[in-house]
Amino acid sequence: MDSNGTFYGIGVGPGDPSLLTVKAIDALKKIDVLVAPKTEKKSDSVALRIAEPYLKPDVEIIFQTFPMVKDFAAEKKIFEANKDEILNFLRGGKNVGFATLGDPMFFSTYIYVFRLLEPCGVKIVTIPGVPAFLAIAAKIGRPLAYGNDILTIIPATASLDDVKNFLAKADATVLMKVYKNFPEIVDALKIHGLADEAILVSRCGLDDEKIIPDISAHKDEPLNYLSTILTRRNHE
Ligand SMILES: C[S@@+](CC[C@H](N)C(=O)[O-])C[C@H]1O[C@@H](n2cnc3c(N)ncnc32)[C@H](O)[C@@H]1O
Repeated sequence: MDSNGTFYGIGVGPGDPSLLTVKAIDALKKIDVLVAPKTEKKSDSVALRIAEPYLKPDVEIIFQTFPMVKDFAAEKKIFEANKDEILNFLRGGKNVGFATLGDPMFFSTYIYVFRLLEPCGVKIVTIPGVPAFLAIAAKIGRPLAYGNDILTIIPATASLDDVKNFLAKADATVLMKVYKNFPEIVDALKIHGLADEAILVSRCGLDDEKIIPDISAHKDEPLNYLSTILTRRNHE
């Protein structure tokens, strides 16, 4: 019998506390240790807050620093140390959870941890969560793609040239991580005829959620890190 603990990557959805799956809640109830990522993003605590009501009272919460990955080789030492800490808990028979906003396999720090742990022979269970862009589509009543639509998902943190190239061809579009270069993104959407149909949602499902249909009018306002734009070419 395997006396090691299990590592759970748990998607907790984008914010609305009722958007956790039954499987996510079951896993949160089971874990002995919860890894809470600490990056430069202020939103890190959101996944922890969503997970908290389900945790065992004596759960151990450990904070691990995950630098924003620009150069994985340069940051490898920090990631390796995090992996070793998790492995120690697992080999000591503890179940360890890593709660992720939205879905763990979609633009998430969890992916780096998962990749490091995968070759270590420990049991890993990844539990999908509702990704933010799907919760947003439901909230604003905007079907994302239908028929033969091709859905394009663009991280606004990619190079502006890449963003523009994809927008030139895009129909139904999701722009993630819209915060640093919002004015440039609005301009690019305008050039490619995608600004009028665009809706920006910040902190979907959280108490301070914002829905902004007229993005051009808000172009110069600072945005929260948890901001996503949905748009589509108006061809009807
Ligand atoms: C690191 S990615 C995490 C994506 C997440 N794993 C998911 O499945 O949605 C962070 C980006 O997800 C989007 N996001 C996550 N939660 C959000 C929310 N509650 N409201 C709006 N956008 C959100 C934003 O585009 C944000 O910049």
